[in-house]
Amino acid sequence: MMALSDFVAELDQLAAQAQEAFDAASSQETLEAARIEFLGAKSGRLKAIQKQMGKVDKADKPAAGKRLNEVKQAIEETFTEASERLASGDTAGSSDVVFDTSLPGTSLAFGRLHPISQTIDELMDIMGRLGFSAAEGPEIEDDWHNFEALNIPREHPARDPLDNFYLSTAKQNANAPDDVLLLRSQTSTVQIRVMSKTPPPIRIISLGRVYRPDTADATHYPMFHQMEGLLIDKQVTMADLKSVLRLFATSYLGSEVHIRFRPSFFPFTEPSVEADFSWNDNWIEFGGAGMVDPNVLKAVGYDPDEVTGFAFGLGVERLCMRRHGVSDIREFYKNDVRFLQQF
Ligand code: PHE
Repeated sequence: MMALSDFVAELDQLAAQAQEAFDAASSQETLEAARIEFLGAKSGRLKAIQKQMGKVDKADKPAAGKRLNEVKQAIEETFTEASERLASGDTAGSSDVVFDTSLPGTSLAFGRLHPISQTIDELMDIMGRLGFSAAEGPEIEDDWHNFEALNIPREHPARDPLDNFYLSTAKQNANAPDDVLLLRSQTSTVQIRVMSKTPPPIRIISLGRVYRPDTADATHYPMFHQMEGLLIDKQVTMADLKSVLRLFATSYLGSEVHIRFRPSFFPFTEPSVEADFSWNDNWIEFGGAGMVDPNVLKAVGYDPDEVTGFAFGLGVERLCMRRHGVSDIREFYKNDVRFLQQF
């Protein structure tokens, strides 16, 4: 036996499913297939339910029959509607995915610039306001630009293979230093490139990668970035150097910064200094600087009696780390998005 309520429930469920299938049809073929599934005379699903009417209690039969006819009519009507919809050319079955532009969106997580790229952009911006334009040089350098013109002679320890990434070791011998290629160990190479091509006055910065065979630790990495600065003009003094560095550091670190020079040595500057910035009551070393050595000016064809200048080379990672409180340089190159996303 079958209860009338079960019979009716089955009919209602079938009507809902038929409506869904007809609405979803996007062609006459799929609609016809759905029609046969539900209304097919021999083995349609409505027919199957109709056959169960024999199990319904005799007293309930009239009610069951009435309901059957109503549902059959309703299903036929939805079929007709769907058929008319398709005939009118509307093939977007209502359950097809439709792009609803009025729904509130989920924002996409866009990528962003690496913190070092962001730092470089900002440094260029600050130095640009001080009148320095950006210059570039290659990362693979030759002996002349990385050493010779920078007053680093043939026997100088700065050329030690343990301190440089030489590329063309086969050709490396004292008779043919011109063939030596290496990954530049400092951006000072760009000083030479710019001065050889341009007459004074010069006011440039150069930001880029440099390479040294250091073991990576919290403060060292075999590749890092430097910001080189070079200003050549008549009567440039060390006071100018100090002012420029102080203005730069105050702009970048966002508060009053003091500058301290400690005597140092670089072959391409005389005198040479290490530049320290005081920030939050600490003195921090940011790089080397000095007055351009007359030998360098001569090497690029300038007259040291006519022009003077200063140069500096600051560590970009170091600046970025100080500003953002990053304590390990290796974080920049692990490509861990949880770290990178913070910038
Ligand atoms: N090139 C030096 C270094 O890498 C820094 C420097 C640049 C020093 C310019 C003086 C002048 O350590």
